[in-house]
Order: sequence, then C-alpha cells, then structure tokens
Amino acid sequence: MSTWKNIGPLSNIPVRGARRLCVKHLGKPVAVFRTGEDDIFALVDECPHKQGPLSEGIVAGRTVSCPLHNWVIGLDDGQALAPDQGTAQPLSVRVVEGDVYVYLPAALGAAA
Ligand code: FES
Repeated sequence: MSTWKNIGPLSNIPVRGARRLCVKHLGKPVAVFRTGEDDIFALVDECPHKQGPLSEGIVAGRTVSCPLHNWVIGLDDGQALAPDQGTAQPLSVRVVEGDVYVYLPAALGAAA
C-alpha cells in the first residue's frame, strides 16, 4: 500500500548529511539526505554500482558520493553522474510543520 510516512523532525537529519531510516521499502533500506540549503531528498539506500550505503556518503551540493567507490549520485533523480551509469530509486519527500514525510509507493518505480 502506498503511504506518506512521517520519519520525524528535519532537525534529526544532519546538514550536508543523511539518515538511514528504520523503514524498508519493499525490502530495501531508505535514506533521507539534507543539503546545506535544507533541501531534502530520499533514495533507496543502495548505490547503483554495488549496493553501497549512500546514506554513509558525502553530500555536496545536490549530490552524494558513494563511500565505497566514489560514484557521484544526483539527489534529484538518483542518477549516477557520467561517466558512471545507473540509478538509485528516488522517493518523494516533503516537510510539513517541521516533520519529514517520505512517500513509499506500492511498487518500486511507481510515480509519487
Ligand atoms: S558501490 Fe557505490 S560506487 Fe561502488
């Protein structure tokens, strides 16, 4: 079932960092990222290269660098920056009254 899940206050996510959520989406971990400008993004927490934990990567601008082999993943769409290729599944996210909500679609790849 698709749902907006409240994952708590924005302040729980470090600036230019990420939090790996307790929730799993269809068996996959979910990461929420916060940029230096307080923009937030959510991706399935698996690098498209070899499933590295993107939540442990370095956030720079609107990208995250995978901690395993340094692929750079765009936070907007989960796409690896060239020359690398692949996509981490993006999930919709929003902030309502200071709390962060992540949209968990019924199926991976479904539009929010
Ligand atoms: S697993 Fe992320 S770059 Fe290799």
